[in-house]
Amino acid sequence: MRAGAVFPGQRKLEMVALDEPKISSPTQVKLRMLDVGVCGTDREICHFHYGTPPEGFEFLVLGHESLGEVVETGSGITRVRCGDLVTPMVRHACPHADCVACRSGRQDFCYTGNFQERGIKRLHGFMTNFVVDDEKYLHRVPPELREVAVLVEPLTTAEKALLQIDRIQQRLPWNAASNQAGACGRAVVLGAGPIGLLGAMALVNAGYRTYIYSREPSVDSRAGLAVSFGTEYVSSQEQSIPQLGALVGNIDVIYEATGASQIAFEMLDVLGANGVYVLTGVPRHGQPVSIHAERLARNLVLKNQVILGTVNAGRDAFEAAIRDLGIFYQRWPAAVRALITRRYPLDRFREPILERSGIKNVIVLDGNV
Ligand code: BGC
Ligand code: ZN
Repeated sequence: MRAGAVFPGQRKLEMVALDEPKISSPTQVKLRMLDVGVCGTDREICHFHYGTPPEGFEFLVLGHESLGEVVETGSGITRVRCGDLVTPMVRHACPHADCVACRSGRQDFCYTGNFQERGIKRLHGFMTNFVVDDEKYLHRVPPELREVAVLVEPLTTAEKALLQIDRIQQRLPWNAASNQAGACGRAVVLGAGPIGLLGAMALVNAGYRTYIYSREPSVDSRAGLAVSFGTEYVSSQEQSIPQLGALVGNIDVIYEATGASQIAFEMLDVLGANGVYVLTGVPRHGQPVSIHAERLARNLVLKNQVILGTVNAGRDAFEAAIRDLGIFYQRWPAAVRALITRRYPLDRFREPILERSGIKNVIVLDGNV
């Protein structure tokens, strides 16, 4: 079988030939891969800034956002059957006996940092024909989501954030998504990439009045897409952060999905009373940014604010993502489909990763492009 791979030592991207993997324990499942999405993380890996091959390999098979079909099951498998569609988790537990997070199946909260990630860190990814994985990392997806289920993994980022926001806002004796005397809670999403747009869908669906603040002008097609599922789009080329703050009113949630630190920290100035600020973007090699530390600390205290960073996702977020993607697809079928800009065959895997265009591009592994 063939795979799209990165050779970090030789700084090259190449197709490689691999033996088909075999089931070797009762809890394993063999998948035929269908779709693999590409994202900014893949771009970082393919510019050799990030990404580690498995031990003993010069290359790393790419791909962490995926959809597969079960084609064979180990003797102890109970949760999936042949023919089921599944989304695999990206992160695998670290080996340390005293990492309570990994030992509880919550490797997304790993303490040691010695976790592995499919297609990212010390585990081959899904950009290939067949994969064997343990049942505990798989999540069943209903067949009606076949066309869009590759969006489940990126949506888990937002779902994990929302689960945490809900927990944090339980500190308030009312529902933060519908606070302000019956009016909606207000959320601002920073960035209109796939993580931002999926996060905005999740916030709209959770009942927030949701604004997307991004650099594309308000006549851009992304702005139209954002409006089509019920958000208000504000272009950072047209309105400053203070203007945004005045427009929105008390901002209950800011969901950052850009990785651009300067604007992310400037946005803190407009976070409202009792607000939660979630950072999901990974700034990787920026210059130092300046922040008004005193004002920031004063606001945090006097306005009961929380700043939260979040990465990866647990089983609860995967289940929420599968459920919500189904809801989004019913509510806004055209908008969900429009998130997937283009599909490519495996032998052209470099193009969508290196040429930055569209929203979500997908590598199709079962030949139907
Ligand atoms: C993936 C996450 C992963 C993170 C850090 C993201 O692109 O979606 O699952 O944990 O990168 O490696
Ligand atoms: Zn990703």
